[in-house]
Amino acid sequence: MIQKYVYGNPIETGAVVQEVSKSEGSSVLLHLSETDEGLEFSCRMNENDVVYGLGEQVRGINKRGFSYISYAADDPVHTENKHSLYGGHNFLILYRQDGAEQTSFGVFVDDPGKVVFDVGETKRDLLKIRTGKDCVVYVIEGDSLKDLAKQFRALTGQSYIAPKWAFGYQQSRWGYLNKSDVKTVVENHRREGIPLEAVYLDIDYMENYKDFTVDPERFSDFPEFVGEMKEQGIHLVPIIDAGVKIERGYRVYEEGVREHYFCREENGENFVGAVWPGKVHFPDVLNTKARAWFGGKYRWLIEQGIDGFWNDMNEPAIFYSEKNLKKVLHEISSIQDDNLDLNEFFHMQEIVEGLCNHPQDYQSFYHDMDGVTVCHDKVHNLYGFYMTRAAAEAFEEIVPDQRILLFSRSSYIGMHRYGGIWTGDNESWWSHLLLSIHQMPSLNLCGILYTGSDLGGFGSDVTEDLLLRWMAFAVFTPLMRNHAAAGTRMQEAYQFDAVESFRNLVRIRYALLPYLYSEYMKAALSDEMYIRPVSFDYPKDRHTFLVEDQLMVGESIMIAPVYTQNAGGRYVYLPEEMMLVRLRSDRKRTYQVLAGGHHYIDVALDEVVFFVKKNRMLPFAVLGDDVKTTQDVSPDRLVWIGFTDDWAEYTLYDDDGISRRYTPKEEWKMIRLSKGEMEGVSADASIV
Ligand code: GLC
Repeated sequence: MIQKYVYGNPIETGAVVQEVSKSEGSSVLLHLSETDEGLEFSCRMNENDVVYGLGEQVRGINKRGFSYISYAADDPVHTENKHSLYGGHNFLILYRQDGAEQTSFGVFVDDPGKVVFDVGETKRDLLKIRTGKDCVVYVIEGDSLKDLAKQFRALTGQSYIAPKWAFGYQQSRWGYLNKSDVKTVVENHRREGIPLEAVYLDIDYMENYKDFTVDPERFSDFPEFVGEMKEQGIHLVPIIDAGVKIERGYRVYEEGVREHYFCREENGENFVGAVWPGKVHFPDVLNTKARAWFGGKYRWLIEQGIDGFWNDMNEPAIFYSEKNLKKVLHEISSIQDDNLDLNEFFHMQEIVEGLCNHPQDYQSFYHDMDGVTVCHDKVHNLYGFYMTRAAAEAFEEIVPDQRILLFSRSSYIGMHRYGGIWTGDNESWWSHLLLSIHQMPSLNLCGILYTGSDLGGFGSDVTEDLLLRWMAFAVFTPLMRNHAAAGTRMQEAYQFDAVESFRNLVRIRYALLPYLYSEYMKAALSDEMYIRPVSFDYPKDRHTFLVEDQLMVGESIMIAPVYTQNAGGRYVYLPEEMMLVRLRSDRKRTYQVLAGGHHYIDVALDEVVFFVKKNRMLPFAVLGDDVKTTQDVSPDRLVWIGFTDDWAEYTLYDDDGISRRYTPKEEWKMIRLSKGEMEGVSADASIV
């Protein structure tokens, strides 16, 4: 049951697709009070209550004990004291384990401005949500965690579906400067037998960082190059940034100015910020015409053979604004001959650092929301969503029957219908591997299924062991992309001594592809979660609510990644008897039945382990020696890994992987096998 409460005069965000009639008053589950700034919804939490959701944020799967602020931030330092990352995902579930007198519920705050979720930071037993004065609050009641999640997705719409190739292994780096750099990456993966599907083109492919341009020298004959890569099974995925460079003669800029498609200041002048290209204007993607115009620009690249994009810097990131920079430089020049005391010095440091993403800048430009002028600050969290929507809507026109890979850095609920996200600029830290483990179920709960983190970490220098462990986890995340910042240690898999282990890890991903893709598609098409907290599957087992580092992936398995340096394994909690599958490679598989409860599991650096639920099974592809891309994974050469004393069933989804004609539910294949027809159980199968 979903109740909708409307306060003030809210902006239509496009987050919700289901018609829900308005309820009068306020929910009995949340106590409402008004403050000077807006509204405050609060609710007592019992000791055992658990809070899930909020998408891309720091800290754990259970969000209790901290405050999270939805206000999209271009902040590359994702430490546990940060309250905002790149998105605004205002959905949470408060699950009451003891809940006889009060039920569990989900709450979605549809307010694209700043929203604060104090989940027991100020007072341990108090949940407080602070919004603006104009918002819509949806309160969802249901039978179970899965049911609450599903109702929320019915409310907000079906998740984006990526092409099948986007479930293959992908390589990126800020700093592939020319065609030869890209070719080297492909050649090295091919030489080492590491499957590879895509290479990303970061900002360096553009001419002076101008959107929808390709550097004519470094990437000469671009369509031919795209074609040449395609022949080798490689998709090139260019980055598109939000800011449009201000430059006379640059078409995108000229058109945008002429047609008034950019965000403007109060005085009507186009707002000037600075990002990679220097000074830029921001397309007003909240305006229908401007959005169609900006989306239409992707056509140029699609016509050159491009079939995947990542939208970046769309919080939008502002290194500095013209206005603020002038102010700061003026202030600094006025003190240049002074003998600065400590406070003056720190003040100067602060104003320089504060140039980036300054709150006042976000308050100083406006959108023309089809006739209504709205200050950016009020709709800040919609920018990345609408930039991505611009692209997705254009794709529907340009290539109506083709799936295009699309993901964004910034997002808001609703964007999950148009694209995925990656989790931005993490670091080569073990704590960020764990953070990624935490973020996946929270994002899934908010509908963002196509997601993953920069494998190995974006900033800092990765080590071989960190990359191995990260990849062993990312075998299960839909986006499996190694990406790193310019200036960091080269971190392509072939750069390390353990190249054979990397090859095995990536091949395991490909062997699991029939299962991972099937599970992703079923989740997307049925409004379910692909990755879940363990408690979603075992809500009667109180212990599962305490598990913060294991995840359910699809209907058959649980994973327990190792995320600690020099640990040779880890403790795992099994909510029931399960079958441990140990993969040394896609061909060396061993099985062991383990009783429910706590176990210490050894996991070597080059191994992938997972646990099969009782009476479940999964398809596993038999790979040829030379698997290069997802095209080489045959749906007809499967073995079934299963754990049962008797028989098990599995619903296998498959399709052509590229068109938008998804297989209808009636045609999903129900497969039923007896114990003897599957691999596993207690039989140790070491197949070479
Ligand atoms: C941003 C992106 C990162 C990219 C860089 C250069 O920091 O998050 O992924 O490599 O910009 O474009």
